Amino acid sequence: MAGAPQPQMNMVPGCPRHVAIIMDGNGRWATQRGRPRLFGHHAGARRVREIVESCPEIGVDYLTIFAFSTENWKRTQVEVAGLMNLFRRYIIKETKVLRESGVRVRFIGDRVRLDDKLIHLMNELEAATEHNNQVHLTIALNYGGRDEVARATKRLAADVAAGRLRPEDVDEETLPRYLDTHVLPDPDLVIRTSGEARISNFLLWQSAYSEYEFIDTLWPDFTREEFTRLCTAYGGRERRFGGVLR
Ligand code: IPE
Ligand code: IPE
Ligand code: MG
Repeated sequence: MAGAPQPQMNMVPGCPRHVAIIMDGNGRWATQRGRPRLFGHHAGARRVREIVESCPEIGVDYLTIFAFSTENWKRTQVEVAGLMNLFRRYIIKETKVLRESGVRVRFIGDRVRLDDKLIHLMNELEAATEHNNQVHLTIALNYGGRDEVARATKRLAADVAAGRLRPEDVDEETLPRYLDTHVLPDPDLVIRTSGEARISNFLLWQSAYSEYEFIDTLWPDFTREEFTRLCTAYGGRERRFGGVLR
């Protein structure tokens, strides 16, 4: 099968299956260098390839990255337009390498506010990689956890109104089937770079029992070595899910 997982020699014991990353700190990284914020976003985008490539070596099957939030539209028009341009360029530049390295790409978030050209490129990248399964890369673009739950609830309510779902059958297994992430497992580990200890509307439902790592490194400085270290540390953690370990 195309892109079937290959056994790796250097997998991390107890490695998280699904890691989600809030890639923060691009603006400060650029400011520290006396450069415009977009310079930091370009440097940040270049970091993504190394982290995706390291997933099969470490043993991470699912990587979800926060690229643009539903709140990031509040930034200047110059920054927003520059980011949208960067996303288009990123997809055009990376499609071949992603397809050939067995990465399956999905996008989560609301596409309605994105421009047609970008939506077209996102659809093409998803289609070009749909038979891959080495690593599942999910890019959160115009994503907000509250927005996602609201959109899911709207679809769920429509199913109830149409008689396809009974209100008494709605439980915590039902709602996630309507979320953008319905085909993904919940994240085991959520990493946020840049020293901020908040989740900023990322995967609110899905991260109910995730482990967190808040690290000071700014995203453009984040390396494969640090990623491996965090995945290794995760392997030593005790997850209880509300129970008691015997
Ligand atoms: C994260 O970096 C990237 C996006 C939110 C698009 P920031 O742009 O938030 O960088 P800081 O937090 O201002 O340093
Ligand atoms: C979160 O970072 C969003 C992304 C990394 C895409 P922000 O920089 O937007 O979050 P706040 O504003 O510091 O909470
Ligand atoms: Mg930020």
